[in-house]
Amino acid sequence: MLTFLLILVILIGNLVTRGVMRYPFTEKQISSLLDEERCKSPDIVVGLQWGDEGKGKITNALADDYQWIVRYQGGSNAGHTVYIDGEKFVTHSIPTGILNPNCKVVITHGCVVNIPEIIEEVKLLEKNGISFENRLYLSENAHLITPEHLKEDKSNQVKFGSTGKGIGPAYRDKIYRAGLRVKDYPQGIDEDKIIVTDTRKLLRDAIYKGDRVLFEGAQAVMLDIEMGTYPHVTSSPCIASYAPAGSGLPLSFFKYSSVVGVAKAYTTRIGTGPFPSEIKNKRIAKNIQFTGKEYGATTGRLRKVGWLDIPQLKYACEVNGVSSIALTKLDIFSEVDYEIKIATEYKVNGKWTTDYCDEPESIRYESFSAWPEITETDWDGLPDNLKKYVDFIEDSINVEISMLGTGQNRNQLLYL
Ligand code: IMP
Ligand code: MG
Repeated sequence: MLTFLLILVILIGNLVTRGVMRYPFTEKQISSLLDEERCKSPDIVVGLQWGDEGKGKITNALADDYQWIVRYQGGSNAGHTVYIDGEKFVTHSIPTGILNPNCKVVITHGCVVNIPEIIEEVKLLEKNGISFENRLYLSENAHLITPEHLKEDKSNQVKFGSTGKGIGPAYRDKIYRAGLRVKDYPQGIDEDKIIVTDTRKLLRDAIYKGDRVLFEGAQAVMLDIEMGTYPHVTSSPCIASYAPAGSGLPLSFFKYSSVVGVAKAYTTRIGTGPFPSEIKNKRIAKNIQFTGKEYGATTGRLRKVGWLDIPQLKYACEVNGVSSIALTKLDIFSEVDYEIKIATEYKVNGKWTTDYCDEPESIRYESFSAWPEITETDWDGLPDNLKKYVDFIEDSINVEISMLGTGQNRNQLLYL
């Protein structure tokens, strides 16, 4: 009789708990949620060169399919420029998803924040008609950039050509366990507009609920503290695999994530450090800088320009696990009067290779002819020379190119 009662209690207990899922979910439960598409893996947009590839534009174009856009590293050193109907918007600390009216945006603990600067950014965007009603969430654990950090970074700016935004000193203090966090911020933050909260829980619940989340990377792999051209890098990890750690979401959530890597049709770099495929011809470099508006959105500095670089891009795709590439600024080579080049191989220790290194002995290039102005909006109608250029890149790195940027406006984007 006693055994029978015991079995009955266990059976009823099982029935009660089976239907109810409690945090933390088990690996199996997460998997079944992902498979049922109730709980979706977040996707990630990352830069594949030295930053300024047009991540803002790509994020903005993709964002309508997501409820949450998340910054997981860096700070106001970023400058994301987006043109909507000819109007220019620049964001620094705030994710560009703020420009998509249906998105909520999150700045996680992986970021460093300069509060007065974020308040200014909010004001400026509001002036341009952007609403901040229940839309901007800031992690209480994000580290603060203090006036001392700013002073120090500005006086030391020459060393790595930093943006002078206090990023390095703020991350240094974080790592040295001497940092201050948003929860330590002395003056009040207008919580009507900047909602300070536990963004880990916020995103966890959003994903459990089935909301779609898009992580928006800043800077890029070659500026990544771990994987970039150290020490000429920024002070945070910029690659896709930092999205889980920088937000506190478990790896199991990322089972079906797509990583959209953004690359320009050429390369640019601000600041100091290795830049193997830099264009030595001053006339060509100037032409690209001018037509491509290659000066920093944050600092106004002129960017150095280089040819698209296969060993570099291959490295970037490997490190980020890129699912597909958005190739931007193809219009910059429309109707140019010079040959366009792509770096295809590096000579290292006397041998030719497609593996990236910071200082190859020499570089092999392939030449391409320019194409006419791009007016068509589907692949078949595109100029043959442009198609050759895109196919060559795709074949060389064996990663699908899924979007082409053909002009600065948000609608000048071709989906392949
Ligand atoms: P920091 O991030 O300000 O410390 O600067 C370190 C290096 O990263 C410098 O060479 C900067 O020019 C570069 N950098 C930082 N943020 C960006 C960006 O958003 N785009 C391009 N370069 C950047
Ligand atoms: Mg930028």
